[in-house]
Amino acid sequence: MPKLASYNGKVDSIENIKVSPMSRAFLFSDSVYEVISFYKNEFIDFETHLDRLNQSLNETKISCSIEDCKTEIVKLLNESKFEDGYIYYQVSRGVDSTRSHFFEESDCERFGFIEEFSFFNQSPLKVMLVDDIRWQRCDIKSTSLLGNVLQMNDAKNVGCNEILMHKNGELTEGGASNIFFVKDKTIFTPGLSSNILPGITRHQIIKIIKDKKLNFEEGSYGIDDLKEASSIWFTSTTKGIVGVEKIVNLETKINPECELLEICKDAFIKKYFS
Ligand code: PDD
Repeated sequence: MPKLASYNGKVDSIENIKVSPMSRAFLFSDSVYEVISFYKNEFIDFETHLDRLNQSLNETKISCSIEDCKTEIVKLLNESKFEDGYIYYQVSRGVDSTRSHFFEESDCERFGFIEEFSFFNQSPLKVMLVDDIRWQRCDIKSTSLLGNVLQMNDAKNVGCNEILMHKNGELTEGGASNIFFVKDKTIFTPGLSSNILPGITRHQIIKIIKDKKLNFEEGSYGIDDLKEASSIWFTSTTKGIVGVEKIVNLETKINPECELLEICKDAFIKKYFS
């Protein structure tokens, strides 16, 4: 069945949506996006996703009404028959008459689609440790993801389904997720910076860790910390929280059975998926 999509406020089958090749999303990746999950027809942390989208719009100076985005995202969910899934939604700077690096004030271009998805069958991940080759504003949820795409496909070619990135030895994040690891019964995660996306699932998990009064530190960590880790986790809207089975190019001490992971996973499912 073709996907249901929305283009500048009009909901239609994705096959009927035609976009201009002069779209700045097409020419320059000049766009930002969100992936928002819903469960039993209710969005999870909807306002937080809208706030982050608004932040991305402000940082990239794309003029767009966040209220229009909200209305369109809600309409897409209401017009679909899916109970559980996610909405991909992006806003580009618009369609230009010439391809110019210099942008002018223009009408933004909004596109989204809805996907049915089951959140509970994530297997542990096989991961490759790679150089973080991305730009220096990874805190903006931009669709310019070539750095992630290239590294993730190199990883896929050796049987992996995620990457774990480091910048000059300092851990940043996954290709499409944030990272946590456990060492000496303490949970660690890289602190927020312009090199990582402020993940909403990351934030949800930190809240759970604090509520449960588990030992927790946020800071700057390196590859040696990973070597010593007993467990490594990835978090994202579509993955939830999932453990790592193996890093294919690094010797580690990770054990797939991790009590702290189970505590966080159970609390996460109870809080957002029941
Ligand atoms: N990705 N870091 C990166 C680079 C990401 O692309 C994502 C999410 C995250 C996790 O953010 P959140 O918990 O808010 O989903 C971290 C989405 C799911 C994607 O691009 O498909």
